Amino acid sequence: MNNETNKDSRKILIDIKNLKKSYENGQIKALNGLDLEIQRGEFVSIIGPSGSGKSTLLNMIGALDVADEGSINVAGIDLLNTKDLSKFRSEEVGFVFQLHNLIPNLSVLENVQIPMLETSLSSKEMEERACKLLKSVDLEDKINQKPTKLSGGERQRVAIARALVNHPSIILADEPTGSLDSKTGDIILDLLKDIHQKENVTLVMVTHEPYVAQMADRTITVRDGKIQEDTMKSN
Ligand SMILES: Nc1ncnc2c1ncn2[C@@H]1O[C@H](COP(=O)(O)OP(=O)(O)O)[C@@H](O)[C@H]1O
Ligand SMILES: [Mg+2]
Repeated sequence: MNNETNKDSRKILIDIKNLKKSYENGQIKALNGLDLEIQRGEFVSIIGPSGSGKSTLLNMIGALDVADEGSINVAGIDLLNTKDLSKFRSEEVGFVFQLHNLIPNLSVLENVQIPMLETSLSSKEMEERACKLLKSVDLEDKINQKPTKLSGGERQRVAIARALVNHPSIILADEPTGSLDSKTGDIILDLLKDIHQKENVTLVMVTHEPYVAQMADRTITVRDGKIQEDTMKSN
């Protein structure tokens, strides 16, 4: 029998309790007892001053870094007590960074295929999936180019296609428009928003621009390694 409690706990995709992370032998408290719950399908923006812990938080959610204390559960996985997180990283999470981290000597198509190399897909299936995603971000005519030949906005669209390749449940975007002019930035934001709506993917995006943050359903303010404010959009 299903009760409400069970239903609610299944909707919570990211569950963080009293998370702590320090650097430099404890002198820098990047996360200082942070609590956060994010439900499946939400679009959350994270704002806060530089150095407040936003990127550290995102890296913890994506298992790119390990916390010192507390608990962090993402998509049912206890990240501090699971040894091999490579499957989690490649299947549950897609990352989009400020600087896109594309590999310069691989083609656009090859870059997008990288996260699929660890899956059991055939090379034909990988190529088809990558082409389909590159088409969806309007780059089908650039698939054989090297990333160095592309504009900033085009590179970020490649990074978004790459992030989506394994059907992740979460997209983590750290200042995805930070290195772009505002017009190109808006195209990238529209694309992310569109993906959030169509693919029902959970989107967690760090930004320092208030107007970008306002696009989300919910805005979280981080300060001194903790949540200072948590506001749902009212409309
Ligand atoms: N790998 C690291 N080594 C040392 N200090 C770090 C490291 N990563 C982050 N920090 C420090 O932790 C704090 C939080 O950093 P960060 O999460 O990057 O902040 P934000 O993304 O909000 O600007 C800052 O003081 C930063 O200098
Ligand atoms: Mg940062």
